[in-house]
Amino acid sequence: MYINFWYPVAGSDQVTNEAPFRTKLLGVNLLAYRDDQGAAHVLSDTCVHRGGALGKGWVRDNCIVCPYHGWRFDKDGKCTEIPTLASDEHIPARAKVDSYPVEEKYGIVFAFLGDLPADERPPLREVPEWGKDGWRANKLAIFEVPAYYERSMENGLDPSHNEFVHPAQGSPAMNDDMKRKPMNVQDVPWGSEFIVKFDNKETGTEALGDDSTLVPEVEAGSGHVGPNQMITWINFSATNRFSQYFFEAPVDENTTRVFFVNMRSWLLEAEHDERIARVNLMIAQEDIDILADLDPVRTPESATEEILVRSDGAVVRYREWLRKWDAKGWRIDLREIRRQQGDRVFAIPSPARRGEKNWVLKTVPLVAAD
Ligand code: FES
Ligand SMILES: [Fe+2]
Repeated sequence: MYINFWYPVAGSDQVTNEAPFRTKLLGVNLLAYRDDQGAAHVLSDTCVHRGGALGKGWVRDNCIVCPYHGWRFDKDGKCTEIPTLASDEHIPARAKVDSYPVEEKYGIVFAFLGDLPADERPPLREVPEWGKDGWRANKLAIFEVPAYYERSMENGLDPSHNEFVHPAQGSPAMNDDMKRKPMNVQDVPWGSEFIVKFDNKETGTEALGDDSTLVPEVEAGSGHVGPNQMITWINFSATNRFSQYFFEAPVDENTTRVFFVNMRSWLLEAEHDERIARVNLMIAQEDIDILADLDPVRTPESATEEILVRSDGAVVRYREWLRKWDAKGWRIDLREIRRQQGDRVFAIPSPARRGEKNWVLKTVPLVAAD
């Protein structure tokens, strides 16, 4: 898990100006709420007074009120009120919590969990089909995977599991040409992607109840931007396409929450929504059932602890990108956090830490760049 990327925190409709939405990401508790203007804010959940869970408090006058002793924190994380202070006393400068940059798009509240200034931040993956004529979005689906997010991402970048894990979808199989050649994985800014052709035995169109578009080959591919944003393309033909965006939220070492935006360029009528959503979630469940039992849970640190073959080309490239972010010193030190569990709570550093001192919580330990 890395600091300094955009992460999906909540579905837009989970975030209100009445009660904070409490969640966990990168092993750290966070809260999200809306101000009266409708803008969403994401803050560290830990009250710096005596450890109250701010996310279990309430929203008043655009501030979060701690449920324990009523300290108030504004959208920037600054404490604006301590009820027990006498009228001539001041709020201590250290009374503040981390507040993170937010973008709200595609029905999702995203937060930038890191301290990089705006012009140095890796991008939030665009959904170019969003709102375009000829494309339709399914309702946002949010589901949990009982697996480490890197394993989940690698599964999405793996064209060779389909015929075994997803037999009901017509078992799209790698063709011989594809088996022989190295995967054509191309780098993009902050990531990589590939497209391959599958022999189309029956293909997913059947599961979707429409076999009028069967073609001998289906073009499909995947890509990632950053460690946690994935897209899958399934092109049944030039006009019949799915673009599936998976914004993955590493909750902790064993759990991933996936925010899934499915865009399609066919079957555009609303009557198809439910069936397509059902098929998509059935496919996701097939992946989840495999991911839940992968061992080791987290990707091994050494490539010699697994055997990677040609069809793992995109997984290999993904891991190479992870090493680049290791080299920047952005990887969270999970072992160290585990060691201090219960004795200390950490915060993901927010951009304000670049300019201000006086923070109560220590920042998450990071693996030193080598
Ligand atoms: S712990 Fe939050 S106000 Fe005391
Ligand atoms: Fe899959």
